[in-house]
Amino acid sequence: MKKMAKSKLLCVQPVPRTIVSCRDRQGRNNALVVGFTANVSLDPAMVMVGIVPTRFSHHMVKESGCFVINLPKKGYEKEYNYLGSRSGRDEDKFAAMNIQWKDGECINAPILTDCPVSIECSVVESTQPGTHELFIGKVEAVHVDEEYLDEKGGILWDKMDLL
Ligand SMILES: Cc1cc2nc3c(=O)[nH]c(=O)nc-3n(C[C@H](O)[C@H](O)[C@H](O)COP(=O)(O)O)c2cc1C
Repeated sequence: MKKMAKSKLLCVQPVPRTIVSCRDRQGRNNALVVGFTANVSLDPAMVMVGIVPTRFSHHMVKESGCFVINLPKKGYEKEYNYLGSRSGRDEDKFAAMNIQWKDGECINAPILTDCPVSIECSVVESTQPGTHELFIGKVEAVHVDEEYLDEKGGILWDKMDLL
């Protein structure tokens, strides 16, 4: 027999483990852990990230109109925990953690090169029904480490040891 849970919070599980990277107008890079991440459209391919307006990253995505969703793999726990608990408002998170990155190819945001998958997105719209502003992003490119691609460019998700 089912009973009512006490809390309604975060009742869709498991929460995805993603790191969103972004850049401000001055060219400063930042990244934060985002659990509010989802696929929202197949054609065109679109995804969504939810960011609380008080996060330092929020104004970067708002201003630049773009972001990268990075999927971390096992071994990246230290960086993941740091990026999800410290703010770029107080420190240069990339320098503090020696985050490896390169410029996006389609958008103006950094790609975390130690993550096996990085998804470049440009914001098409946003809405804020509650605590998080939901940024809907058109998928501009999906970068995948070569070892996780088959000969036709298909992604070998099962081979990946994601966090
Ligand atoms: C597991 C986990 C999931 C999180 N999910 C979100 C999220 O979906 N949206 C959000 O705005 N913050 C989320 N956070 C909190 C931010 O990652 C955290 O506040 C971060 O320090 C913000 O960094 P910033 O101020 O440099 O942008 C999450 C943190 C953790 C540990």
